[in-house]
Amino acid sequence: MESPKQFDFLVIGSGLAGLFYALEASKAGTVAILTKGAARESNTLHAQGGVACVASATDTFDLHIQDTLNAGGGLCKEAVVRRIVEDGPDRIRDLARLGVRFATRPGEEGEIWDLGKEGGHSRRRIFHVDDATGKEIEQVLLQAVSANPRIQLLEEHQAVDLITLGKLGYSSENRCVGCYVLDRASGRVEVFCAHHTLLATGGCGKVYLYTSNPDVATGDGVAMAFRAGVPVANMEFIQFHPTCLYHPRAKSFLISEALRGEGALLVNHQGDRFLPDVDPRGELAPRDIVARAIDAEIKRSGHPCVYLDIRQKGKEFLLGRFPTIYSACLRYGIDMAADLIPVVPAAHYQCGGVVTDIDGRTELPGLWAAGEVACTGLHGANRLASNSLLEAVVISYRAARASSIGKPPSRKVTIPLWDEGSAADPDELVVVAHNWREIRELMWDYVGIVRTRKRLRRAGVRLRNLAREIREYYWSYRLNADLIDLRNLALVASLIVDSALERRESRGLHYILDFPGPDDTRPPADTILRFSEAPID
Ligand code: FAD
Ligand code: SIN
Repeated sequence: MESPKQFDFLVIGSGLAGLFYALEASKAGTVAILTKGAARESNTLHAQGGVACVASATDTFDLHIQDTLNAGGGLCKEAVVRRIVEDGPDRIRDLARLGVRFATRPGEEGEIWDLGKEGGHSRRRIFHVDDATGKEIEQVLLQAVSANPRIQLLEEHQAVDLITLGKLGYSSENRCVGCYVLDRASGRVEVFCAHHTLLATGGCGKVYLYTSNPDVATGDGVAMAFRAGVPVANMEFIQFHPTCLYHPRAKSFLISEALRGEGALLVNHQGDRFLPDVDPRGELAPRDIVARAIDAEIKRSGHPCVYLDIRQKGKEFLLGRFPTIYSACLRYGIDMAADLIPVVPAAHYQCGGVVTDIDGRTELPGLWAAGEVACTGLHGANRLASNSLLEAVVISYRAARASSIGKPPSRKVTIPLWDEGSAADPDELVVVAHNWREIRELMWDYVGIVRTRKRLRRAGVRLRNLAREIREYYWSYRLNADLIDLRNLALVASLIVDSALERRESRGLHYILDFPGPDDTRPPADTILRFSEAPID
């Protein structure tokens, strides 16, 4: 094993949060960005709808704040919501300055922003780049990073565990000093040290069988922070996107909520709308309501999906506004201008995560978190559409500024090398694949959109057994990427189940038949879990 690599800032993850932090932090020192796959693979790359931000004359910060609070089911932190919403315009300007070409349209006095609309928003306020906003943001930021001599980006480098002074036995001071990292190409585990480490590892959609998320979204950041003793909050609030394409060959393809913003209707297999009976906002009700209504309609009808109908907008409009979705649907034989689009809900976004303050600071000195991995208090019990890219850009910027202030600690520490373990077990791949599938099926069947305590308990028992098996493998055999993912996936799944069991009420995205309404006898509170209460490691 090589000697530790030293940087001022260590960034884990190359989505919007990680890249934007790196660019800002590089003004104060050297930066390493580690990413477990190819640089661009991330939830950011797949974002379609856009970034919510107040920009039109008919919109106000107060309206955006109110919409966010309404969606959040009483659990948003209002001061955090205000800060993020009010910082939005500056960060949109930064992105545009870096080269993100947000859509515009002709106005009375020249070009104006072409703002989209999505569920739960009372005004048009979504900055977008057609229907591939994330792809443009990711490309622009990666270009800026590659042109920056103070930033080193390492692909195929997977963070395994955080290194803390507490775990190294320095009892007088606990602090994050870096990370053990698997170089996937060589199979070696290396030590990366830094004064400041940012978790920007995104979400955990792959915990569920059906998800809009890419394969890298296995909840690594939450798992690593939790194992390091950092509190994790509100993991029961998993957002299911109402409309993912339902097609045997389509893996995780989202049909953006922006379609409903432009007038798409949801109908059942008989062609009837069902949302107006559920909520007066119909197709533009917040996501938790729409996803639950679809789930109920699918169960009631016995038909495997429902349909989006946007035929009325015509081919020319659809090709101009939704070119990516149009061509993707066409690949599966669906012409949006002529056909209904079959859709189902799928796991999409983790509203909870590593607890941070408004500057992305966690409880552990030296450790920061931004983007989907973090729980700042913006989303509460249900995220408002397109608020996550906003949060990622605002908090990563604030974290970079905050972590650049002051003198870095100068203590010299000795970090033990990773014990590389013995040779790989030939059975390993089969066992990993089997356990991975079992967790994802279990979560889908027992910890989905509608929950019961009985099913949650059953999932908890099974997850504990699986965790024991995984732990044995983990510590007995040589480490590889699949084993790291599986270990994290199992821990995050059990954090979701434990949080869901802890919340004895239905609120926002957590809907449980045993308690069909919110508990009005006490003020709404976060569900906070710490390592000592962990069922597994
Ligand atoms: P990500 O962009 O997910 O990046 C995480 C990075 O961490 C990746 O590079 C990953 O490889 C890396 N990583 C993970 N674990 C490790 C590890 N152990 N070691 C090293 N690297 C690691 N939000 C909106 O606001 N508007 C939208 O329109 C929108 N559309 C969406 C559409 C889809 C299909 C999806 C899936 C999400 C969408 N979201 C949207 C949500 C939004 O895209 C994400 O919340 C946001 O991009 C998260 O950014 P991030 O930087 O926190 O994480
Ligand atoms: C979408 O385009 O529907 C996704 C928006 C989001 O997840 O915020």
